[in-house]
Amino acid sequence: MADQLLSTVTHHGSLPETYVRPESQRPRLNEVLRDADVPTIDLGSPDLSRTVAQVADACSTYGFFQIVNHGVPIELMLKMMAVASEFFRLPFEEKAKLYSDDPAKKMRLSTSFNIRKEKVRNWRDYLRLHCYPLEEFVPGWPSNPSSFKEVVSSYCREVRQLGFRLLGLISIGLGLEEDYMATVLGEQEQHMAVNYYPKCPAPELTYGLQAHTDPNALTLLLQDPDVAGLQVRKDDNWIAVNPQPNAFVVNIGDQLQALSNGRYRSVWHRAVVNADRERMSVASFLCPCNSAVISPPEKLVADGSPAMYRSYTYGEYYKKFWSRNLDDEHCLQLFR
Ligand code: SIN
Ligand code: FE2
Repeated sequence: MADQLLSTVTHHGSLPETYVRPESQRPRLNEVLRDADVPTIDLGSPDLSRTVAQVADACSTYGFFQIVNHGVPIELMLKMMAVASEFFRLPFEEKAKLYSDDPAKKMRLSTSFNIRKEKVRNWRDYLRLHCYPLEEFVPGWPSNPSSFKEVVSSYCREVRQLGFRLLGLISIGLGLEEDYMATVLGEQEQHMAVNYYPKCPAPELTYGLQAHTDPNALTLLLQDPDVAGLQVRKDDNWIAVNPQPNAFVVNIGDQLQALSNGRYRSVWHRAVVNADRERMSVASFLCPCNSAVISPPEKLVADGSPAMYRSYTYGEYYKKFWSRNLDDEHCLQLFR
């Protein structure tokens, strides 16, 4: 029911019981490292071998990095954020038409993560879109705000191009041909989650999105430029990924961990919420095609490291991922 949406309720007095985490699962915000951060990489640098080394190092150490001078027009990033924010400000009746809690839908406005499965909800509303090929999906996207289709499709095109460039750098860093990952992943789908985290009366008791790893290959995130909320697991700590002007946050998903035979890491991350600031983010996911066979290249097993995971298709993996809850163990563990 659309009245589950958080953005329809304008005044939250106290946090409803359905969002309260048991004591042992709470975010313990005072223990989060605020100044550690993930590396920032300048993609505008002319020194390609240095960039490749920086990307390789970030992927194996953090599984996350930020990029600047990435070539996506700053104006388009601003427009994307603006249209997202306008969308969540639409009147309830307008948004209610798009509501669904069915994860199989290719365009839906929903809340939390998967309310059909989870015990405790997340303090998040999100618009989830399939974005590739654009001709197939754009006609079904929201037509309000009126610039939505045009802005979001331009944004998707740019992000896809940037994603492929990153896959190239990632492949080279593993000693593979530049097009290796793009070829193995096949005709990749592209999905998007436009996230809206309203002000929350009790940020210590709940999440915007609880700890999880991404099931896809590569994720590019446009963060709210003013409000922090993304946190990444590093060793035994949570570290805050501080918003940087005009940057994207990039992270390795489960499929690149498997394809790199564990050299690159798909790490736990989460989004926390704020009492006095709402927050938005736009996540773009590059997803292998369903028939892509996920199995590490010869080169990465020939040097004495046995394959960490059995070979499987992405279709099989994705089904497994959505049949579980985000609170479960790393999904890749089931493919050993
Ligand atoms: C996520 O998609 O993992 C959450 C991103 C965020 O809101 O920072
Ligand atoms: Fe994620």
